Amino acid sequence: MPRAIISPSVLASDFGQLTAECKRMIKGGAEWLHMGTLSTALCPQLGCAAITDRLYPRHFVPNITMGAPVLSCVSKGVPGIFMDCHMMVAQPEKVRRALSLLLEPANGLRKWVNDIADAGGSLYCFHLEATSDPLPIIEAIHSRGMKAGVAISPDTPSAAVADDVAAAADMLLVMTVYPGRGGQKFLDRCLPKVTELRARFPDKDIEVDGGVGPATVDACADAGSNVIVAGTAIFGAQDPEGVIATLKATVNK
Ligand code: DX5
Repeated sequence: MPRAIISPSVLASDFGQLTAECKRMIKGGAEWLHMGTLSTALCPQLGCAAITDRLYPRHFVPNITMGAPVLSCVSKGVPGIFMDCHMMVAQPEKVRRALSLLLEPANGLRKWVNDIADAGGSLYCFHLEATSDPLPIIEAIHSRGMKAGVAISPDTPSAAVADDVAAAADMLLVMTVYPGRGGQKFLDRCLPKVTELRARFPDKDIEVDGGVGPATVDACADAGSNVIVAGTAIFGAQDPEGVIATLKATVNK
């Protein structure tokens, strides 16, 4: 299994001090920073697998957090940061309108991919439930020099991750809560999906996100996850460095 990567979720940080919070995490031993980018963009595929789409029709998740302008400030303020951008958006393939393409041809067709790349994103992770055509998105992400991640929500089976999509992606994300906000209870029923994906892809980075902390990381690592996202458990701790070290040691044991 690949080595541990700890990616603190900034949704649990003090947004008023975002740059300082990211520096604090890197100093504390984190390899990546998990930037949860949420949007209420209209979803063209009604009734897709994510429960949030059923609870909040035509929206991928019911919240708004931050977008490319904020990421851009963080990447300038924290040189060398690896921004693991989790795009909880309804249209990860969103394209520019013809007029803006004419005015800004250098920016290419794919709006969110280009915006995140221009903002300094390192990894662009989109949800399988939000698209019917993942491979061109992965190609677009790679063409902008970012790693590509493919996420599945709790109700999506691991079999939905086709072999060619997983092979093209750099990372697979198994959500262990319904996407949309931090501080939710870890859903251990999602772990068999990690086990299945690890068996199919022994060398791939496999990330878990949602309710992960010292109490649940052991099960995640046993299932085969090596990229650990934790928000509340790290930012809410008296000793974030100690929590990061514990998470890392558990995966690398
Ligand atoms: C959920 C986000 C997570 C979330 C995790 O929609 O993708 O990154 O912030 O937060 P905790 O670790 O608090 O569950």
